[in-house]
Amino acid sequence: MAKARFLRGTVLVPGDKSITHRALIFSALTSGEARISGALGALDCLSTASCLRRLGLTIDGADGTPGDELRATGRIDLVVKSAGLKTLQSGATPFSKTTRESPLVLDAGNSGTTMRILSGLLAGLPGHFLLSGDQSLNKRDMSRVLGQLSLMGAQVEYRPVAGKAPFVISGGHLHGGTFVLSVASAQVEAALLLAGLLVAGPHGTATTVTTPSKVRDHTLKAFMHLGIPFINEGTTTTVQALAISHPAPLAAKDVTVPGDISSAAFFLVAAAIMPGSSIVIPAVGVNAGRGLVVDVLRRMGAKIEYKNAREVNYEPVCDIELVAPDRLLATDIGAGEVPLGIDELPALALAFALADGRSRVSGAAELKEKESNRLGAICQNLSNQGVKVEELADGFIVDGAKTLAGGGQWATLHDHRLAMTGLVAELVAAKPLALGDLDCINISYPGFGQDLEKLAQVAV
Ligand code: S3P
Repeated sequence: MAKARFLRGTVLVPGDKSITHRALIFSALTSGEARISGALGALDCLSTASCLRRLGLTIDGADGTPGDELRATGRIDLVVKSAGLKTLQSGATPFSKTTRESPLVLDAGNSGTTMRILSGLLAGLPGHFLLSGDQSLNKRDMSRVLGQLSLMGAQVEYRPVAGKAPFVISGGHLHGGTFVLSVASAQVEAALLLAGLLVAGPHGTATTVTTPSKVRDHTLKAFMHLGIPFINEGTTTTVQALAISHPAPLAAKDVTVPGDISSAAFFLVAAAIMPGSSIVIPAVGVNAGRGLVVDVLRRMGAKIEYKNAREVNYEPVCDIELVAPDRLLATDIGAGEVPLGIDELPALALAFALADGRSRVSGAAELKEKESNRLGAICQNLSNQGVKVEELADGFIVDGAKTLAGGGQWATLHDHRLAMTGLVAELVAAKPLALGDLDCINISYPGFGQDLEKLAQVAV
């Protein structure tokens, strides 16, 4: 097949992963039935749904597909039925009968967001829960969240490696307090605020969490949608125990999930590196805490416009239009910006490889803590394609060139974002890449390869 010269057309990306995880997990706080429209049906969110089903929630496809028969897909409408926190704690779910010897086992798969945010919920529930994941997740740091939850009164027992899953969390005896995070993590913030809602009270009922810099605020937007009060001042947020701040049961509420900017990022980068491209991505969530990819591509010369700006469940949403420049300019990304788009750095690194000049990313050591050591993998993969790249302790320097030679190994390491970046690189490489396994794309974007192909146009 002739090689595509540019991307043209419209592509609808799957639902936002962060918002879907939160919509599902926070429904454990509510009573009633809610529809989550346009949810992400990829493996990570299915892991969240299956953990919640083990806790007693009913989560099925809106088309009637039973929850345990759901398979990885893009956008999906889900129906969640929850009987309220109290039932969850003491009702017909197995965990009321668990003992330290037989905790309820929850499998988070590959999903760090599932494991970390869910820990905040479990810390507030009486009982013992064993959380585990796949090989990659069980290597990732959980002490950042579990250390703080222990300070709130949760008991954590690692089995056996300190700071890693599997671990048993025993909850139900939380007190509030003030927590200052050393990592700018929206996941940890979400877990602590969620735990803060489950503090028994009445003493020490306030929980205050400060992040070192701005992070995505989907948690606060979801709280607003559900009517959960909080006080936010910059990077500090305070919640009160629900028993005090919202003594009536929280009613379940429908959620509409916008498209995921982190998935859109692959198309934005692909279009930006192929002169002559122009694409539209409708209904994408553009939370201010996720703005890095658009800011950086604009700095590099791409013309990006937000059309039909609107708000859905307090989340800003718009149709994104991108027109590629003739040449991309190099740019730098500093520590303050990194949390606004850490998931997009693999794709942006590819844009740097095709820009005029030298680009530098710093303050991104956190990249080593993702589904793989993304810092090492990005540098190695680009270097294998002939790109001049230097790995730093906390980032990388890329010398852009007009073309990508290609022809080298592109390791995917069971990491969806590495695999998708590889498929984009393949579009522009002079020689085909030796791409690793691509099945991991189902973790966040089943059908990505087909969607990319639909946009790819051959010049006539
Ligand atoms: C997420 C936050 C980010 C991001 C992850 C999803 C979230 O992680 O990398 O993919 O939904 O809160 P950290 O909060 O650990 O930085």
